[in-house]
Amino acid sequence: MTHKILVMPGDGIGPEIVTEATRLLNALRERFGLDAELEKAPIGGAGYDAAGEPLPEQTLKLAREADGLLLGAVGGPRYDELPWEKRPERGLLAIRAQLELFSNLRPAILYPQLASASALKPEIVGGLDIMILRELTGGAYFGKPRGIDTREDGVRQGYNTIIYSEPEIERIARSGFDIAMKRDRRLCSVDKANVLEVSQLWREVVERVAKDYPDVALSHMYVDNAAMQLVRAPKQFDVIVTENMFGDILSDAAAMLTGSIGMLPSASLDAHGKGLYEPIHGSAPDIAGQGLANPLATLLSVAMMLRYSLNEEAQAARVEAAVGRVLDDGLRTPDIWTQGCDKVDTQTMGQAVVAALSD
Ligand code: IPM
Ligand code: MG
Repeated sequence: MTHKILVMPGDGIGPEIVTEATRLLNALRERFGLDAELEKAPIGGAGYDAAGEPLPEQTLKLAREADGLLLGAVGGPRYDELPWEKRPERGLLAIRAQLELFSNLRPAILYPQLASASALKPEIVGGLDIMILRELTGGAYFGKPRGIDTREDGVRQGYNTIIYSEPEIERIARSGFDIAMKRDRRLCSVDKANVLEVSQLWREVVERVAKDYPDVALSHMYVDNAAMQLVRAPKQFDVIVTENMFGDILSDAAAMLTGSIGMLPSASLDAHGKGLYEPIHGSAPDIAGQGLANPLATLLSVAMMLRYSLNEEAQAARVEAAVGRVLDDGLRTPDIWTQGCDKVDTQTMGQAVVAALSD
């Protein structure tokens, strides 16, 4: 069966890095028999430019029909003045919500070749391989009531609601345990149960789900402590499962442990394994269009898509091996460059990965 892949370049460095992903997918089709067809659609600021909406109807339609979705990045200063509902970020949040992509996998892996690019000492981050599982369609990002209004006494106020139902907590907890079963069988649930009722319910439900996974060692940690532990002793973690906003923050911190946010892919999955794949870095408008962007997070996102949504494990492994080879060869985009390596641009890096693909 032909896989339908929708690529959505988006804004900033998005088009450059997605160009490299498209090059990679085409090489897999032409040289390694990947049966896939590619379509392209605008999202974010590009969606607004093309159709007046950050998530154009046609893009959503194609997204619903696709088996795998690849996104570059959204957002940029050009769109900062737009009304709230037209902002690029709304396109990303809308596609997550519309497709019910509740399970967001954000691995933080330190490639041995890049150990010296991390801001932390090699003995603290060497061999790091953790997975942050972020709930993606609930919590403060989507909870109601929300808004900015004026109180009776004339004072303006802004508010959001962190809200989770038991089924929402249960399904992300199950994802967490399932992932832990495939790894080192350790799951740390991060919450703020000493302050928030929603976290108390979270903890209760996670404990309940744990009964179905006797082989997984479950622990709980408050989010402030988790932030500290991530930079103090990150290797203590295997899988972290947490709510939407905590996951947003902790995954950026975890990403930086690996030296560059430019290396990390992510997957956002629905209940059936369909997913949206994107590098976890943003649109980086400051470096857009200059060939400075690191395409590896996007190429590794393609690998995740092949593995988790398209069931093409061998192709996924092929891509990951090629990335490893290129790093072994000393090629580095500026974000991961260190003395003695070859500094290359976005396209050279993408082409090198394609050239390094093998049987
Ligand atoms: C992320 C980003 C998004 C988020 C923004 C762009 C809306 O920071 O994917 O982590 O907060 O979820
Ligand atoms: Mg974020």
